[in-house]
Amino acid sequence: MLNSLELLAVEAESCTTCNLAEGRTNVVFGAGKPDADLMFVGEGPGAQEDRWGLPFVGRSGKLLDRLLDEELGIDRGSCYISNVVKCRPPENRDPRPSEIAACQPYLEQQIQIIDPLVIVTLGNFSSKLLLETDTGITKLRGRAYPFRGRQLVPTFHPAAALRGGTDVLARMRSDMVRAKVLMGHV
Ligand code: URA
Repeated sequence: MLNSLELLAVEAESCTTCNLAEGRTNVVFGAGKPDADLMFVGEGPGAQEDRWGLPFVGRSGKLLDRLLDEELGIDRGSCYISNVVKCRPPENRDPRPSEIAACQPYLEQQIQIIDPLVIVTLGNFSSKLLLETDTGITKLRGRAYPFRGRQLVPTFHPAAALRGGTDVLARMRSDMVRAKVLMGHV
């Protein structure tokens, strides 16, 4: 029997609610431990993710894997990784408000089913969406926010660290440590 997360994934695989369905190769629903204490939410699939149907398998994903290993001492199988939109925006453009709204029920249900203790939002799109704010990630990050009985730790998107060098990376590292402390793993 399929569990509720698997059933939701099956539903998402045939989703045509927004126009992103037209250009996708695969729906990138999310991957990881279905009852993880720690959940990451990125922006949306890129070319590699679209190709493989898995989140964060390109360059950003390699950096995320490194941070998981070096700051949290875990691999991706011990957490859950998802995105705001589950289908690749063409040419890697930003997801549009209508696409984000169309996909939001999937993210909301993922959060409910996985029921993580800590959510780490990667970048502007997921941070602004879940915290319901227009404030940008540079101002938002550096602290945790109470979020529906759990904690939300906003940090930069790994792509920003790949572009922005050591300062962004150092701040991402400290945000990862914040998430680890909140999970009581220290
Ligand atoms: N960037 C994202 O936001 N998500 C992915 O899955 C890959 C790259």
